[in-house]
Amino acid sequence: MAGLSLAAMGVASMLDLIAAAGAEQVAMASDDRTGLRAIVAIHSTTLGPSLGGARFRPYRSEHEALVDVLRLARGMTYKHALAGNDLGGGKAVLIEGPAEVDRGRLMASFGRLVDRLGGRYLTAEDVGTTRADMDVIRTVTPHVTGVSEKFGGSGDPSPATAWGVLQAMHAVAERQWDDPSLQGRHVVVAGVGKVGLALAAHLAAHGARVTVADVRPEAAHAAAALGAEVVDPQRAHAVPCDVFAPCALGATLNDQTIPQLACQAVCGAANNQLSTADDGARLAARGILYAPDYVVNAGGVINIADELKGYDHDRAYARIESIRATLSRVFAWADEHAVTPAEAADRLAEQRLAAARRLGPRAESGPPNSSPGFSPGSSPGSSRRA
Ligand SMILES: NC(=O)c1ccc[n+]([C@@H]2O[C@H](COP(=O)([O-])OP(=O)(O)OC[C@H]3O[C@@H](n4cnc5c(N)ncnc54)[C@H](O)[C@@H]3O)[C@@H](O)[C@H]2O)c1
Repeated sequence: MAGLSLAAMGVASMLDLIAAAGAEQVAMASDDRTGLRAIVAIHSTTLGPSLGGARFRPYRSEHEALVDVLRLARGMTYKHALAGNDLGGGKAVLIEGPAEVDRGRLMASFGRLVDRLGGRYLTAEDVGTTRADMDVIRTVTPHVTGVSEKFGGSGDPSPATAWGVLQAMHAVAERQWDDPSLQGRHVVVAGVGKVGLALAAHLAAHGARVTVADVRPEAAHAAAALGAEVVDPQRAHAVPCDVFAPCALGATLNDQTIPQLACQAVCGAANNQLSTADDGARLAARGILYAPDYVVNAGGVINIADELKGYDHDRAYARIESIRATLSRVFAWADEHAVTPAEAADRLAEQRLAAARRLGPRAESGPPNSSPGFSPGSSPGSSRRA
């Protein structure tokens, strides 16, 4: 998926950026009473209402925030399309400023912006926002997911994401070694936070040899309790292994690290693992199988999408298991068309979107009410400092 050019970021007008990203709509709100400065990008509603998390973090400029939200919203369109969700791509950013804010009032203010979009955008937790924030947003709009379980939410998506990565790894093993079993396979998990630790536990339970790395020694120690070997996070990518699983930050696969990889496949949870579009080809040139990140890490959004039907854990996890078949289809399509798996994933997602467009506007059944206990006008919840 081609990203927005960084060169364009500095020079293009906001409207040019929106056009370049192919976004359907961008909504902005600024509220001096609550400190809200937010941008919502709806990239596509071709498959259904857009759903994506709300990021809360500082940005150097509004341009940078806009570029980020447009890029992330576009990524969600592709992720939902390949995950089989009847949802479109959307995302929100809340620009964190230096001033102290009342977090409850800020989130309620953001919730009202979401509400005004009438269900075309459903928000969720992301970097810098929490389930408690979603619970506040839920008091002013039904168009929120990832609320607490007591309100019908599906809880922390990380276990679902880890479960999906495990399914993806079976597809990788089948494609690479004609055997889906992970028994005896050596997997290096770089980043053992919420997803990486759960993944390491699944791998250990499946008889894999697990090596872990984390910049937080306590996280690495927690994984070591599973019987995993611990390595220096700076060198994790260079450890000889069967599968390297990036589960920390993005852009770890780049022109510096790819020549040092000593694995046969890359399959991990981290978003945006390829630093540039060329890195997919770099991996292929080295004979390393790359499992596209947004296919691999879709377990979380598949899980959260289930909330829209009234959350059912077993149904959600059964759908997450389909990641294995989806990834196998991506590998097969890549072989057949002599393209990288990253390109194949993009083309397959685009095919689903094009087919939906050919069928015409989707049946309008009204926006889903994702918060069963929604009560407009109730208390915006506890106030916390940003
Ligand atoms: N949580 C989800 O459901 C979910 C869903 C989709 C994608 N992802 C992506 O998966 C990745 C992990 O998510 P998470 O929720 O587990 O985050 P997390 O913050 O719980 O864990 C990340 C871990 O990586 C470690 N880390 C940071 N820099 C590192 C480095 N250079 N080397 C090694 N370790 C490093 C951190 O100390 C932390 O323990 C992120 O890229 C996230 O965007 C997560």
